[in-house]
Amino acid sequence: MRTALDNPFSPGSDTIPEVWAGRTEQLSDWRDVVRPRRLAGLPERGRTILGEPGLGKSSLVRRIAQDSARAGDWATPQLRIPAGADPLKLVAEAVLGLANAAGLPSAREKRINDAIARVQAVAVSGISLTLRGADGREPYAALTELLVEVGTAAVANGRVVALIHIDEVQNITDEKALSQLLIALGDALSHEIEVEVPGGARVSRSLPIAVYLTGLPDFEDMAGARKGATFARRFKTTTLSAIDDEDLAEALQEFVLDGWQVADAGGSAGRVRMEPGAAAAIVDLCRGEPFLFQLAGEQAWYAGTSSTITAAQVRQGWRGAQREATAHVERILERLPPRERQLLQAMAGLPTSERTATRIAEAMGFSKVTEVGPTAQRLDTVRGIIDRGKPYTFRHRAVEAYLTSDWPRS
Ligand SMILES: Nc1ncnc2c1ncn2[C@@H]1O[C@H](COP(=O)(O)OP(=O)(O)OP(=O)(O)O)[C@@H](O)[C@H]1O
Ligand SMILES: [Mg+2]
Repeated sequence: MRTALDNPFSPGSDTIPEVWAGRTEQLSDWRDVVRPRRLAGLPERGRTILGEPGLGKSSLVRRIAQDSARAGDWATPQLRIPAGADPLKLVAEAVLGLANAAGLPSAREKRINDAIARVQAVAVSGISLTLRGADGREPYAALTELLVEVGTAAVANGRVVALIHIDEVQNITDEKALSQLLIALGDALSHEIEVEVPGGARVSRSLPIAVYLTGLPDFEDMAGARKGATFARRFKTTTLSAIDDEDLAEALQEFVLDGWQVADAGGSAGRVRMEPGAAAAIVDLCRGEPFLFQLAGEQAWYAGTSSTITAAQVRQGWRGAQREATAHVERILERLPPRERQLLQAMAGLPTSERTATRIAEAMGFSKVTEVGPTAQRLDTVRGIIDRGKPYTFRHRAVEAYLTSDWPRS
């Protein structure tokens, strides 16, 4: 009944998880704001979704792209930028894909053929094209030009949006390439064309193009600070934090109420249920981390073969997952600059009611409370790991549990 083949949990795999929890705000931002506004020709910024490792950034935008493709849109595959790679080549390749979806290669206009040829050159040479300056045009201009053609074709179609998803954006370390990329996408987003409305009047409208960038919070430093105002004006940044317990519980409710449908060995359908206590235990153990939620679910699934997952099986499965859960949190902590890690440790060492800036500064050995300011601010606004209320609290509940208790041991 419960086998590796029918297990619906997927820790770490780069797919859209079958057992999906929460993120309703971001999904409805796409469905109710970004897509309809861009489709209607209204201006709407691109979206940047950042967050610590494993918070579900890639899955979220993959799901948005799936939604989009199902609505008939032209969506690029998730473009993952490997460390040090030239992002312009990858993006040029993807824009050519969008041009194909829009049927542009069969167009007879010279303008369009030239635009395609220029982006083909970018796909081959990337940022190095800047240096050669083949026809005096920078790579970003070629990308924008073709995106505008794609957008214009989408306007003519009337019902589709061209969606671009670039993942692991923190890996774009070449400043020139980053700036070219952000300008290309930003210019396409803010480009307006004139269209004729019923009655013959001409009005300008934005193009039905949507852009999602996803990656680690470090991207904010690279793009936000240095590229400055232009980037901030054209993209809206969201930092993901832990998923609410209610959302996680709701995701498991299908197991509790009706049972999760699986195919039996004989091919007939069976259902795998969960004791309410088993669902509650999974929610409790994973501390809002989507990755640990999938991990706890997977291990519980494998902890028995009967048609009901029990609370004891969840705990037994978790014992096998503890090392991985520890490694997950340690990976997050190890990535932090030493000062930020120190602050978290100082904060964790204090009783919850005493986690004030003053006490934390003392614990860190600072003479002035203002010295913790910038570090605390980064942990709050850039990373979403803490909340600088009075007192400070942890938003990253797995980090809190790891630093303040025996967790993940249960
Ligand atoms: N909304 C969700 N509900 C349930 N599980 C989720 C959700 N989002 C992501 N997950 C699971 O969490 C894990 C991590 O997701 P994902 O790879 O998308 O995170 P990420 O933020 O892109 O991580 P990284 O920074 O390592 O790239 C995956 O196992 C995925 O299945
Ligand atoms: Mg990812």
